[in-house]
Amino acid sequence: MNVAVVGTGYVGLVMGAGLAEMGNVVVCADVDRGKVERLRRSEIPIYEPGLEPLVVRNQAEGRLSFTTDVGEAVEQSDIVFIAVGTPPDEDGSADLTHVLAVADTIGRHMNRTKVVVTKSTVPVGTAEKVRAAIAARTTTPFHLASNPEFLKEGAAVQDFMKPDRIVLGVHSAEAEAALRELYEPFVRSGNPILFMDIPSAEVTKYAANAMLAARIALMNQFAVLCEKVGADVDDVRRGVGTDPRIGKAFLFPGPGYGGSCFPKDVKALCATGRAVGAQQDILETVEAANERQKRVPAQKVERALGGLAGRAVAIWGLAFKAQTDDMREAAALVVVDALLQGGARVTVHDPKAMDEARRHFGERVAYVEHRYDALQGADALVVLTEWQEYRVFDFERARALMRRPVVVDARNLYEPARMRQHGFTYDSIGRA
Ligand SMILES: NC(=O)c1ccc[n+]([C@@H]2O[C@H](COP(=O)([O-])OP(=O)(O)OC[C@H]3O[C@@H](n4cnc5c(N)ncnc54)[C@H](O)[C@@H]3O)[C@@H](O)[C@H]2O)c1
Repeated sequence: MNVAVVGTGYVGLVMGAGLAEMGNVVVCADVDRGKVERLRRSEIPIYEPGLEPLVVRNQAEGRLSFTTDVGEAVEQSDIVFIAVGTPPDEDGSADLTHVLAVADTIGRHMNRTKVVVTKSTVPVGTAEKVRAAIAARTTTPFHLASNPEFLKEGAAVQDFMKPDRIVLGVHSAEAEAALRELYEPFVRSGNPILFMDIPSAEVTKYAANAMLAARIALMNQFAVLCEKVGADVDDVRRGVGTDPRIGKAFLFPGPGYGGSCFPKDVKALCATGRAVGAQQDILETVEAANERQKRVPAQKVERALGGLAGRAVAIWGLAFKAQTDDMREAAALVVVDALLQGGARVTVHDPKAMDEARRHFGERVAYVEHRYDALQGADALVVLTEWQEYRVFDFERARALMRRPVVVDARNLYEPARMRQHGFTYDSIGRA
């Protein structure tokens, strides 16, 4: 099938490459000229495991191309996906400027009947706005669908190629048939394609992210409680996670959730709730609790050192989670700011997010290529991302390098007893 994907970010690029891998002819369009030029040279602008070979192969075989000409991409295609960003507006609601700009372009280039699919995470009712924006520009009939994306950064290729489920909101048999044909190769093992109406599909995406965000926020609150009462949140996690009604996934406490989705989607769902008179007060609290949690690591450092002024603090991990270079809404942004404001000097390391970090922090922090270099003369180490390469800790080397052996481990990677045995003042999340 001939497919256009408009917006070539984490979602658009992965989906474009994934659809091409199944034999479709895909053109990815983006207004970011620099990004498109890099992609044409097969340079991947983001870190995502397994993505590069997929892009290179499909480009070489002529099934995947990149353009800044959104209109031309639309004209060449039978199915058009809108996968542009939907950042939060000032009141927390999703900003639909990019989505509606693309809808306008689609309307102007509707040279034959097409299926137009919103892939971006958009509030309920957006498909109707997209329909109106297209219809204002064309009399050619078209079909609309909503296809929220559930991929996880860090495992995006795998998630897209082998989805747990595919959610499709449709209002016409033609849209259903076209999208069934497009997606059937991805669910040969029997995972479901769930057809529903468009508003239900739009709500499903937010409901899924809201539940996951709430789960993390709840575990983080249990962690605070555990510290106060002398319990161990890791034991509690195992104790509750083995209940099949609860399940083991997404129960790890940490420095608060970040990334491009949970924070903005929770805010947007709260805004939708307020707008339609269905208050999402549980989620309002989740959001506030998460913001509070992001401040915890810096508070722990300050407490351990008796103040921050003049202290040298090393940070391991800047990305909002492992296996990505994405720092959007990462806890590291809050932690580094708090440390700097308190007068500390900060040295940072991340295996993949150093370019991103330079964009955020500029000259305000020092950067090291090897993680132990950050410990030279440090008064404390803060671990913020659960990168695998951080899981083994060289006690002797760290002790020799650090001025003071203080470790705040916001991912509970190390064993408290062993850390203390090796002479570290060690604090983690919920394991007082
Ligand atoms: N990142 C994720 O893990 C994830 C997962 C599921 C859903 N989503 C949703 O998917 C959408 C895209 O997210 P993302 O992380 O890929 O965003 P992103 O910021 O990485 O990429 C968005 C891209 O859209 C391009 N763009 C903006 N306006 C455009 C226009 N008018 N025409 C063409 N291109 C335009 C930008 O240049 C950018 O390259 C969002 O709604 C997000 O909530 C993201």
